[in-house]
Amino acid sequence: MNPVLIPGLPWIGNLHQYRYDKIGFLHRIRDRYGDLVRFRLGPHTLILVAHPEDVHRVEMKHARNYVKATNFRAVVGDGIFMSEGEKWKRQRRLIAPTFHHGNLLKMVDDMNAKIGLTLEMIREVDQHPVELSETMKRLAFEIVCEAVFGARSAGDFTSLRQAMVYINRYLTRRFGALLPLPMSFPSPSNLRFHRALRIIDRTVWELIGQKTAESASGSPGEDLLTKMMLARDPETGEGMEPAQLRDEAVSMMLAGFETTGHLIPWVLNELAVHPEHQKRLRTEIDERVGDRIPGAEEAMALPFLNAVIDEALRLHPPVWAWTKRALEEDEIRGHRIRAGSILYLSPYLTHRHPQFWERPEAFDPDRWTPELRERNKLAFFPFGMGPRTCVGRHFALLEIKLILIRILQGWVLQPVPGHRSQGDFQITLGMKKPLILRFIRRSS
Ligand code: HEM
Repeated sequence: MNPVLIPGLPWIGNLHQYRYDKIGFLHRIRDRYGDLVRFRLGPHTLILVAHPEDVHRVEMKHARNYVKATNFRAVVGDGIFMSEGEKWKRQRRLIAPTFHHGNLLKMVDDMNAKIGLTLEMIREVDQHPVELSETMKRLAFEIVCEAVFGARSAGDFTSLRQAMVYINRYLTRRFGALLPLPMSFPSPSNLRFHRALRIIDRTVWELIGQKTAESASGSPGEDLLTKMMLARDPETGEGMEPAQLRDEAVSMMLAGFETTGHLIPWVLNELAVHPEHQKRLRTEIDERVGDRIPGAEEAMALPFLNAVIDEALRLHPPVWAWTKRALEEDEIRGHRIRAGSILYLSPYLTHRHPQFWERPEAFDPDRWTPELRERNKLAFFPFGMGPRTCVGRHFALLEIKLILIRILQGWVLQPVPGHRSQGDFQITLGMKKPLILRFIRRSS
């Protein structure tokens, strides 16, 4: 039996409903037709997979049968993000160790220095409303670039960031288009895309050259790019070719900045509109960290901070949906999944599934008891699950924690009346309007 196909219009299917309000549409079809349903976006039929056990089958239990269906290859080439099979396994073996605990500890000082510079700017506008969406995206970009390329590198990442932001916007538009023009067609947006890609390539190749020279002169940097350059596959003894290094560096940038950069404003907003949780978190920080610049170990060991971030990741997962393609026929709870089917997974939807979450729409960090963590471990997957789970997860969590601690050490956050944050469901989950909050200095 095929999963039920929901009604739609000839030719376009459900594209108009999806385009108008993606998440509203997905919620409606899940509520009305169930956890495994087919819908049509123009020529493509997709299968929505909303039940945690089915997500687990696709992402973990039978992960070998499902490959990424969204194509970012034009940007990230055949890096860890897009590669599959033996190639992906090899890249993952080479890259995962660069994110190990010991390496993260070495990045803390650089992260803290970047955070300090951003907070200096906020200090100057004391008591006034502060724009946070752009500010946090910029900070997240600088932190990921510094981690990948090192503090000693050429420094100005502004044009690189602008190029990355354009590429994200371009890719989002392409995925929403019914019949996108081939990328080689000289339309204004395609031309701008290729220009942005050239800026990225030029910068990344320059940095690869710089890292190669540093390593050759016997003083290799501590950055991820150098570590990837020097990494050797334990099974074959082989390293990465320069073109592969380029793809991996770009993969890290693409995966690592709009994700964290979007989550931080969501957390700050939840804290501003829930002063009781903000107060409790500030007390935890005061008691455990005081006014010291936090180290990695203490940042990671704050239980209420952990719960606040998990609750924000539950309600506002930055990677809110993705697709996988079935290589061979499969069966999911009695339903036939034909070879070639495109499966649509959405942590946003599953994280608000009323069967698994009480008062799913409420921001309630207290729900994160050890029992709930155990019971709902398949219903919470902001970083994916299984072999393709986010390789930058601990990096991202450390960065977010350091930023939140430093902000709450210095300020009380208050919402600005009349400002409402609504989700903007692009490749990552941003806000429709930039977040503005009032920052009140604690000493004043
Ligand atoms: C809050 C921040 C972040 C979230 C929510 C997030 C989420 C995700 C998700 C959902 C996936 C895909 C899982 C799948 O396909 O099953 C992923 C993959 C990945 N992420 Fe993240 N990510 C975050 C931050 C980062 C950072 C900071 C980096 C790097 C510095 C990073 C690097 C990657 C890479 C390289 C992959 C591909 C892994 C693979 O296919 O083996 N991510 N991430």
